[in-house]
Amino acid sequence: MFSPEDFVSSAVQKIKREVTGRAVIAVSGGIDSTVAAKIVSEALGPDVLAVYVNTGLMRLGEEEEVKRTLSKLGVNHRILDEEDLFLSRLRGVVDPERKRKEIGRAFIDVFEREAKEFSAQYLVQGTIAPDWIESGGGLRDTIKSHHNVGGLPEVVHLKIVEPLRDLYKDEVRDIAEYYGIPRMRQPFPGPGLAVRIIGEVTKEKVNLLRKATSILENNISRLDEIPWQYFVVLLADRSTGVHGDRRVYGSTVAIRCVNSSDGMTANFSPIPPEVLAKISRDITNGIPEISRVVYDITDKPPGTIEWE
Ligand code: XMP
Repeated sequence: MFSPEDFVSSAVQKIKREVTGRAVIAVSGGIDSTVAAKIVSEALGPDVLAVYVNTGLMRLGEEEEVKRTLSKLGVNHRILDEEDLFLSRLRGVVDPERKRKEIGRAFIDVFEREAKEFSAQYLVQGTIAPDWIESGGGLRDTIKSHHNVGGLPEVVHLKIVEPLRDLYKDEVRDIAEYYGIPRMRQPFPGPGLAVRIIGEVTKEKVNLLRKATSILENNISRLDEIPWQYFVVLLADRSTGVHGDRRVYGSTVAIRCVNSSDGMTANFSPIPPEVLAKISRDITNGIPEISRVVYDITDKPPGTIEWE
């Protein structure tokens, strides 16, 4: 049986032994990086700096939530606004793998810059087992290069520390509970909303998707059974719709709700039809640019959870 207390105590000892300098931590707002930040902070105290990068690809309210959590945990941190950098690197990029690589590279550039300023020699990451297994870590073929693995440039000037490398999601959750970390929002991919926009990422598309995501989250939060992960994907296909007596050729979004225990396999969630109908109405009424909403009924496998 996994013991969070034993894991934390040996991880803290290991970091104290192996990390001989200052470190920066990439905090994404998800459970993995928050737990990693707390563990490393226990080991290194003020010699660690948690950096949260606002990539412009995050959900509504995310930055404030991260700020609150890190302050409560007593983790030394900095919040950076890098929206322009990320959007400019993504300009013209359509291929999903290239998107991840561009985002990974931009992250690393920002962290290297911050690390230099903080005189850090180490970069801590919240990588967990499924991230590297699915990134071709030797066990399986590359399915997707998760940004915190596959996106690393060949020359990284910082030594990488990954305290959660051998853990699965449920074990990370146990540690979060042990620390009294408030229940986090659902899992969210490092590359953020960029991998939920099919085709080129623009500020306008991110804004649309952010609004639709918030509407979905509001509706789902009222359910008795909350799916493991639920989100909206903005498709590249447009479709005809009717607004009042006017025909419009608007955007299409797909709703993806899945149940899973570790993200390695998943089943689509059987959301009640009346709830789906309300989500669809709320989205199309609230966001005039969206004229069609579809529901994804694919399990993993054969589909992955994300669309890109
Ligand atoms: P997939 O789409 O591979 O997703 O079935 C499995 C779980 O991993 C999340 N995910 C990511 N997390 N960087 C991350 O940190 C990524 O590039 C990435 N891609 C997918 C996904 O949201 C799901 O929870």
